[in-house]
Amino acid sequence: MSVFSENFLWGGAIAANQCEGAWKEGGKGLTIQDFVKGGSADEPRMFTPVIDETLYYPSHEAVDFYHRYREDIALCAEMGFSCLRLSISWARIFPNGDDETPNQEGLDFYGRVFDECRKYNMEPLVTLSHFDMPWGIATKYGGFLDRRTIDLFVRYAETVIRCFGDRVRYWLTFNEINFGVLQMGAFNSLGLIEKRMLKGADPVPKTELKAPLGKRIQALHHQFLASAMTVRKAHEIDPDLKVGCMLSHITQYPLTCDPEDMLETQRKDRILNKFAGDVMVRGAYPTYIRRLFEEEGICLKMQPEDVSVLQQGTVDFYAFSYYMTNCSTVRTDVERVNGNLMGGAKNPYLQTSEWGWQIDPVGLRYTLNQLWDRYEIPLMVVENGLGAIDRIENGQIHDSYRIDYFRRHIQALKEAVSDGVEVMGFTSWSPIDSVSAGTGEMRKRYGFVYVDRDDNGTGSFQRIKKDSFAWYKRCIETDGEVL
Ligand code: BG6
Repeated sequence: MSVFSENFLWGGAIAANQCEGAWKEGGKGLTIQDFVKGGSADEPRMFTPVIDETLYYPSHEAVDFYHRYREDIALCAEMGFSCLRLSISWARIFPNGDDETPNQEGLDFYGRVFDECRKYNMEPLVTLSHFDMPWGIATKYGGFLDRRTIDLFVRYAETVIRCFGDRVRYWLTFNEINFGVLQMGAFNSLGLIEKRMLKGADPVPKTELKAPLGKRIQALHHQFLASAMTVRKAHEIDPDLKVGCMLSHITQYPLTCDPEDMLETQRKDRILNKFAGDVMVRGAYPTYIRRLFEEEGICLKMQPEDVSVLQQGTVDFYAFSYYMTNCSTVRTDVERVNGNLMGGAKNPYLQTSEWGWQIDPVGLRYTLNQLWDRYEIPLMVVENGLGAIDRIENGQIHDSYRIDYFRRHIQALKEAVSDGVEVMGFTSWSPIDSVSAGTGEMRKRYGFVYVDRDDNGTGSFQRIKKDSFAWYKRCIETDGEVL
């Protein structure tokens, strides 16, 4: 008998800027991602303050979901998905971010997408903001550092929740909101771009788009408020709507049992993983963060009402991405590995993916248990998957490595459920190949469905089922019994 509940949500997750393309169609405004070129694991993606249309920008066409959503949703339905996580591009609804009225063509597009999901009894799970702030908000307001951006976001959120609340019951506010504590999150997550970066026309590595920790924390505070206000608004519109937070959980292990490594692990885990979750689930800043703020000279500007806004806007469920784990240590002479959002010390017990991310299925069980013990609210794994190079042989893709990755992670998920953890669902990252968020590559593929598109922007966009397609279909059909 299956360990999963009857309503368990099985499916996959995609994001607008990585799959839709059609960057100038349907009245869409520009987003910060439209200015970023492709890179690789060794070569940073370049940001160009002015778009040079002779160059290739992955988000401009991505994998053409905008025109092929019917085919893609049908493929997901064929695998038996009961849930499709996707994001709305804010700039399709408010092209400049601060427009007086929403763009009807954008609303119509998502209306058609959600109707298509409903046709197959697929529950849409919608991320309101997945790394693609409207360019107008980033440049005119300075992203989330400006308090006015809170209202712009909430107005956008209210617009789409009112419009689609009848078809979309599950919502996520910000993708991987904890990214804001990291330097790399300044641009992607918070929309912070220094004025001087906008002046010349010369491309700059995306890694140079930085902001001091104090500014990032202030902007993150505004995101927390925007999220909390959205939760309240959604519940006012319909008390049955469920709104979750979404974090990238980069589980930390101590590299050794040296007490200093233990403390370092706790410190990192708190800042990176626990801080944002604590604020959004518990509705208040955790006490441990005060010391960090003091040590870093951070003086958070708060309005008197902020405390109650956070208190009254706690989330209904906790969603997270899980790809890997890392080790923490105070030692500097250790081997290091790459990772999602950040690297860490190498764990001698784990293998890595082709992009150097440590593969750790057991860590998923550990993470789910940790989160459940801490929050006791429903959890959902909304991203998990293996970025790998796939090869076409006689029109087929034999991705046994991906099947192996999922088999072991879903086994761990089952163990966690048997441990007593309440898990609402599991959506694999990018069931249809899409552009990599980190490197902008197409060759880093996650899908059960291959898309004919390469890193130079050529290819027919043809969809081809990989071996993992039939495997995941069987997994869902048997509710995770046959892995
Ligand atoms: C998560 C993001 O961090 O990881 C996704 O939410 C992203 O947008 C995924 O695609 C995988 O990372 P990458 O860099 O391999 O695309």
